[in-house]
Amino acid sequence: ITPSEFSERIIRWYHHHHRDLPWRHTTDPYQIWLSEVILQQTRVAQGLPYYLRFVAAYPTVTDLAQADEKDVLRLWQGLGYYSRARNMHQTARQIVAEQGGTFPTTYAGLLKLKGIGTYTAGAVASFAFNEAVAAVDGNVYRVLARIFGIRTDILSTAAKKEFADLAQYLMPADDAATFNQALIEFGAIQCQPVAPDCLLCPFNTLCYAFQHGAQALLPVKAKK
Ligand code: ADE
Repeated sequence: ITPSEFSERIIRWYHHHHRDLPWRHTTDPYQIWLSEVILQQTRVAQGLPYYLRFVAAYPTVTDLAQADEKDVLRLWQGLGYYSRARNMHQTARQIVAEQGGTFPTTYAGLLKLKGIGTYTAGAVASFAFNEAVAAVDGNVYRVLARIFGIRTDILSTAAKKEFADLAQYLMPADDAATFNQALIEFGAIQCQPVAPDCLLCPFNTLCYAFQHGAQALLPVKAKK
């Protein structure tokens, strides 16, 4: 399959099947960043009400930066991994202190922020600014490992580059935002960890995992 065939096919699937989620209606980099921080270790159903409460309480990065940490942590209560909330708050303060509350508008600029890694920088740059950069989360690892039969341990450093390079190779020049949402959404609702919906999958005729009955073996995640 060529990159443009791949991206057209997954974008077509996305147009038919995606969930209507609030962070898909905004191009505000702050609100997109907020959603991605919340969704990092959290399912959509659990994270959604938190996202709505955070946007309502702190509609701009300046509002978040000026909040007391204890109020931010209280609003975070129930999501777990409280260091995420503390880091998010610190990053907001950094953006206000160093950029006057304006988010960086490029992947490279976002990556320079202390609390933002490659995934989050890619997500914000593509969703807010349509920059053609990959955003490879756990969903995307699973989709690419299964379709392309990649056996590299997804916890290894080699995997990070291999999967990012593949996602970048498949990326359409003109619709990064939809492509990245499509890959994530495809992993979340079609190519699920357990019991993927292979019979109705638009990639089943070429999917390595489906063709070899290897869905349960991919992606490879070695024990740490
Ligand atoms: N998980 C991580 N990012 C997401 C997004 N933008 N939409 C749905 N689930 C996600």
